Amino acid sequence: MPEIQLSLDGAPLTARPGQTVGAALSDAGITSWRTTRNARRPRGLFCGIGVCFDCLLTVDGAPNQRACLTPARDGMALDTGCAQQAASSQDGSQDGSQDGSQDDARDGGAA
Ligand code: FES
Repeated sequence: MPEIQLSLDGAPLTARPGQTVGAALSDAGITSWRTTRNARRPRGLFCGIGVCFDCLLTVDGAPNQRACLTPARDGMALDTGCAQQAASSQDGSQDGSQDGSQDDARDGGAA
């Protein structure tokens, strides 16, 4: 079966047919693609079944998509928001990280 071509922050990424975005990222050796809002701890696949929301990223412009549940499709554009976070950190502004739902609670609420 032909490979699926997608992109992550503009860089090429390959997936196999039937893989989720999270599986494709994991296969590529990418284990984290965002950070928690306050403590900036790395996040990626955790539960792998759509429960924890640690694996959020933007898919074709739609924010807060769970990588572990999103099937990889040819031409899909994945955006981690890391470029935006880096710019926010440099200018001292608050970041608009992708959700902030539960992740800082698991950090123990540390800032
Ligand atoms: S890894 Fe837990 S929701 Fe995706």
